Amino acid sequence: MFWYHEQTKHSYVSVRSNPNQLDWSSQPSTYKNYPDTYHKRKLDLDKEEDHFLYHIAGLTAKKSYPGFEYYLRINPSAGALYPNELYFQARGVEGVEDGIYHYEVATHSIAFVASISEEEGLEPYLGYAYVMEGYLFLVSAIYYRSSWKYKNRAFRYCLLDAGHLLGSIEAAALLKPHAVQMAYGIDKEKLNRMFGFEQREFFLSAATMAIPRKEQKIKAVEFALPYVEGSGTFEPNEKIMQAYRETISLQGCQKVLKAPRFDYRSDKLRETIFNRRSQRGFEGEAITKAQYSYIMERVTQPVLSDCDEEVSVYTVVNRVLDMPLGVQKDGEYIKYGDFSRKAGYLCLEQYSLAAKGAVTFFLTSKAGNYQALYQKAGLIGHRLYIASNYLGIGCSGIGAYYDDEVNAFLGNDEMVLYALAIGR
Ligand SMILES: Cc1cc2nc3c(=O)[nH]c(=O)nc-3n(C[C@H](O)[C@H](O)[C@H](O)COP(=O)(O)O)c2cc1C
Repeated sequence: MFWYHEQTKHSYVSVRSNPNQLDWSSQPSTYKNYPDTYHKRKLDLDKEEDHFLYHIAGLTAKKSYPGFEYYLRINPSAGALYPNELYFQARGVEGVEDGIYHYEVATHSIAFVASISEEEGLEPYLGYAYVMEGYLFLVSAIYYRSSWKYKNRAFRYCLLDAGHLLGSIEAAALLKPHAVQMAYGIDKEKLNRMFGFEQREFFLSAATMAIPRKEQKIKAVEFALPYVEGSGTFEPNEKIMQAYRETISLQGCQKVLKAPRFDYRSDKLRETIFNRRSQRGFEGEAITKAQYSYIMERVTQPVLSDCDEEVSVYTVVNRVLDMPLGVQKDGEYIKYGDFSRKAGYLCLEQYSLAAKGAVTFFLTSKAGNYQALYQKAGLIGHRLYIASNYLGIGCSGIGAYYDDEVNAFLGNDEMVLYALAIGR
C-alpha cells in the first residue's frame, strides 16, 4: 500500500489522540484572484458558453452565521475548503476568445492569463499532436486550504475534491452534445512551472471537451506566469508534497474509449446541478429498489480516461424497499444483515448520515496510479450526488472513516478511498 495512504489512516485511537485543533488566525482564503492588470470578463449567464462554464464551478448559495458567512458552490468540497482551482484553454469556442483562462470563482469571471495561436497551444502538454478545438480544462490544488484543517490527510481530499470537479465538468457537459475525457497523463511538472505555482499549488488532472483538427499539427506554447497567491496564509507540508511528487508519473495505464451513457433530461439536469447540496443528516426514510437501481446504473457507467484504474463500489443497504439488508459489492450481496449502526460507526460515528441513510457507499482500490484512482473515486462520488439529487434523494460525501475497520468490515485489504451516503 502506498506509504502516504497507510500513514494517513484514521483509527478510533488516532482520532482521539490527535484531536484536530484549528488555528483560526491562519485560516486560508478559498479564492484565488489574478491581479486586475489581467483582462477579466464577467460571465454573462444569458450566453450559452458562459452559462456552461458557470455550471462547472460557480457559487450557488450563501450560508450566514452570526459573525461570518460563506458561499457554497456547484461542486462539493470536504469541509467547504475548496482546495481546487480551474484553468482552461478555449479554442474555436463561440463567444469565448481563444486563449488560456483562470476561472475566478469569487467574481464569476474568467481571467485571460496567456495567449495561444494557430500554431501553439497547451495541446502537447496533454499528449495531443493536433490542434484541439473546444475546451481543455486543467484542475489544480492549493493544498494548504485543506491541510490547514485536515493536516497530512488533506492530499486525499484535494484528490477527491478534484474528482468532484471533473465530475462537475462531466455533468455540465451533458447539457451539451459533447463527451468529456479525463486526462491524467499531462506534463504536470512543466505546467506547474509555467503557471508559476511555486510548490503551493499543483496540477492534478485535465478534462478535455474538444475535437482534433487532424490536418493541423500543434506545438507547445511556452510562457511563465508570475506567482499569484491563492490562500492568503500558507504553511508547507512536506508529506503532501512528497506524496504528490512520488505519484506524479503514471505507470501501466489503461485507456477507456467507451463513452458513458446518461439519459438525463436537460432542463431537470440543469436544475439538479444548480441545486445540488450535501445532506447534513437523514430522517431514516427508505428509498425504493427502482431508485437504487437507477442510481447504481449511472454511477457505474464507464469513465472516459487516459488512465482508468479499478475502483470497487461497496454498498451497505440500510433501508431500500424490497431489498434485503446487507452489503453488496458491484451489485452482488457479500453478506446479509442490518449493518446500519456499523456503517455509522465506521464513518467516524456520523450516525445521522451513514446509519440513517438508505445506503452507505465505500469505494476502495488496490490499483497503482494513486492520483488517477483517487480522482476517479471523487468523480464516481459526483455521479452519485447528481443521480440521487436528480431523483430528489439526498447525498453526502464522507471523507472521514476508520480505514482499517472498514477493511475488516468489507473483508478486503484495498485502500479505502471514500465513503458516501444517500437517503431521505
Ligand atoms: C470529499 C468530501 C468529503 C466530505 N466529507 C464529509 C463528512 O465527513 N461529513 C459531512 O457531514 N460532510 C462531508 N462532506 C460534505 C461537505 O461538507 C460539503 O460538500 C460542503 O460543506 C459544501 O456543501 P454542499 O456540498 O452542500 O455544497 C464531504 C464532501 C466531500 C466532497
